[in-house]
Amino acid sequence: KSRETANPAAESSPRPGANKHQDEVTSKKKLCVKAAKEHSIPEDLNKVLENKVFEKVLDLSYVKLSVVEMMCLGDADSEGIVSKSISSHSDLIPGVYEGGMKIWECTFDLTDYFSEAEIEFTNKTVLDLGCGAGLLGIVALRGKADSVHFQDYNSTVIDEITLPNVVANCIDDGSRMGSGKDRKVSKPPSKRPRKAEGSPDMLNKCRFFSGEWSQVSQLLLSSTKAFPKYDIILTSETIYNPDYYSALHDTLAQLLDKNGRVYLASKVHYFGVGGGTYLFEKFIEEKNVFRTSIVKTIDQGLQRCIMEIAFKDSC
Ligand SMILES: C[S@@+](CC[C@H](N)C(=O)[O-])C[C@H]1O[C@@H](n2cnc3c(N)ncnc32)[C@H](O)[C@@H]1O
Repeated sequence: KSRETANPAAESSPRPGANKHQDEVTSKKKLCVKAAKEHSIPEDLNKVLENKVFEKVLDLSYVKLSVVEMMCLGDADSEGIVSKSISSHSDLIPGVYEGGMKIWECTFDLTDYFSEAEIEFTNKTVLDLGCGAGLLGIVALRGKADSVHFQDYNSTVIDEITLPNVVANCIDDGSRMGSGKDRKVSKPPSKRPRKAEGSPDMLNKCRFFSGEWSQVSQLLLSSTKAFPKYDIILTSETIYNPDYYSALHDTLAQLLDKNGRVYLASKVHYFGVGGGTYLFEKFIEEKNVFRTSIVKTIDQGLQRCIMEIAFKDSC
C-alpha cells in the first residue's frame, strides 16, 4: 500500500471546528483537563486484535480506520470521540479529541529523517508523545530501544488504535499460535500483518498512557515504578495549538534526560489553528531552558520541518 493512500491527512491541515458558536463551545471545553491513566496490556492479545483489520505502510501494520470508526459507533468508544468528530466534521476538537485516530503526514517526515540521520535507538528509553497510531514508537521498538512509552490525549485512541498497532507489529506468527511466553494469541486478526517482526516479549518494553500532557507527566513522576527519564522523545504534529505550548514545554522539560533529545516534526504553520514551528521555537526561546535547531525542511505540499530540541546545558 502506498503511503500516500494510507495517509488520510496527507493532503490537509487539521480541520478545526468551522463556526463561531462551535469555537466558543470548544474553547470552554478546552478548560477541562483530561486525567492521566496508564493502560495495561491485556494478557489475552486476541482481545486487542479483535474486530481489527490491518493495512501496511512503510512495512508497518496499522489498523484500518474506517473499521475502527464503525466499531466505535457501538460501545467501544467510551469517550464518544468518533461520533463527536464525525458530527462536528472536525479532526480536532480542543480538549475533547486531539486527532490521534489518523496518521498525520509529519509522522512520515520523521521516519524518513530517522533513516537519513541514522538516529540510534538501541538501548534508549523512548517516549512517543502524542502518539496517535504509534508508528514512531514502533520504529523505535524495532530499532532495539530499551523501552518505549506511548502517550495520547484520548483513551479510545490508545485502546482502539495504538495498542492494536503495537501488538500487531510486535507479535510473530509463531507467538500468535500460542508460543509466546506469557501472553495468549491464538487467533489472527481478520487481515493479519503479512510478516511478523519481533515477539510478544517486545511488548514488555512498552507502556501506554492517555491524558493531558501535564497530567501524564505528573503520573509518571509520582509513580512508584522506576522511571528513568527519556533519552529520546519523538513527537509529530503536536504543536498546532498555541494554548498547549506551556504544558508541552514543561512536559518535555520534566521528562527528558539531561542529555536527551526531542525530535519534533511539524507543519510550519497550521492554518485555522494558529500554531506552527516558528511560534513554538519562539516560545521555547523565551523560556530559556532548551536550545533548538531545524534539522530538516520539507517543501513539497505544505511546508514542514523537523526540529531537534536539547537542554541548553546538555552535551
Ligand atoms: C494531530 S495528532 C498527531 C498524532 C500522531 N503523532 C501523528 O503524527 O500521526 C496530535 C496528537 O497530540 C496529542 N495531544 C495534542 N494535544 C494534547 C494535549 N494537550 N495533551 C495531551 N496530548 C495532546 C493528541 O492526543 C494526538 O495524539
